Amino acid sequence: MPSLPDVRAIQETCGIVGRAREIEDLIACLAAARHVLVEGPVGVGKTALVQAVAGSLGRPFLRVDGDGRYSEARLVGAFDPPTVMARGYVPEAFQEGPLARALEAGGVLFVNELNRMPEGVQNVLLPAMDEGRIEVPHLGTIRAAPGFAVVATQNPAEFVATGHLSEALLDRFERVRLDYQDEAEERAIVASRARLGPPPELVAAAVAMVRATRSDPHVRRGASVRAAVALADLATALGGDLDRAAALALPTRLDLLDDRDHGIDEILGSLPKKVQGGSRGPRST
Ligand SMILES: Nc1ncnc2c1ncn2[C@@H]1O[C@H](COP(=O)(O)OP(=O)(O)OP(=O)(O)O)[C@@H](O)[C@H]1O
Ligand SMILES: [Mg+2]
Repeated sequence: MPSLPDVRAIQETCGIVGRAREIEDLIACLAAARHVLVEGPVGVGKTALVQAVAGSLGRPFLRVDGDGRYSEARLVGAFDPPTVMARGYVPEAFQEGPLARALEAGGVLFVNELNRMPEGVQNVLLPAMDEGRIEVPHLGTIRAAPGFAVVATQNPAEFVATGHLSEALLDRFERVRLDYQDEAEERAIVASRARLGPPPELVAAAVAMVRATRSDPHVRRGASVRAAVALADLATALGGDLDRAAALALPTRLDLLDDRDHGIDEILGSLPKKVQGGSRGPRST
């Protein structure tokens, strides 16, 4: 059996807080040459985790972002028209796209928000994923080197305004699900990612505030740890004024159930402004 990278080494090298089980699951899938669909709400750490694990396996990592106008030719690669005009369909005229490169290099093709890709793009992945090959007209077959895997993300169906993945595509993926981390881990993430070095009580207050948005009955989708990082940094820049920071950081990050009925200002007003027993922010000096 090949030796697998150590979870703790990945956490330390890449600054990943917690997620030991999910890291192990991802490593196991990739070691078993399986493709993985990583599911979880916005900002839960999908990209960070996949990047950390793929990097630790020493595999080339190619990232593409789901987009309704992405084309099959962009994913696979395409012939360069001027070169074809001058020299015909010679192999050198083919400009490889990320799928061709990942196949040849035995790399990880990371498709962020796969569900947003047009059906044609999703379908190109099918033969690559289970036969390890694609056919390119005028070029021939591109075969997968050992290590090739597709790791894709999608936000859970209830959050997605765009399409769903086909059954055929889902049948080729294992699934790793990421949920929000616990409060202590979220504080550790904010403390490590914030740029302005917020004091611990401000980190705690920002995390508590963001977590409260997730259980607010007027909010369809609450804010992520990314929002808590922004909140902690802005409050620091504003001399500890968490309210004012929240008015900057949260409106773009909350999906309200019905903003005529209960608007953003009411929701911001009802969020906890400090941690139980803690202070609100940096002391005045
Ligand atoms: N466990 C963690 N350890 C360290 N940093 C984390 C962790 N989880 C999330 N982060 C940080 O939180 C931010 C959001 O994470 P990331 O971009 O990976 O989320 P995502 O799920 O890919 O988001 P999106 O749905 O918007 O693509 C990043 O700055 C990331 O580094
Ligand atoms: Mg992401």
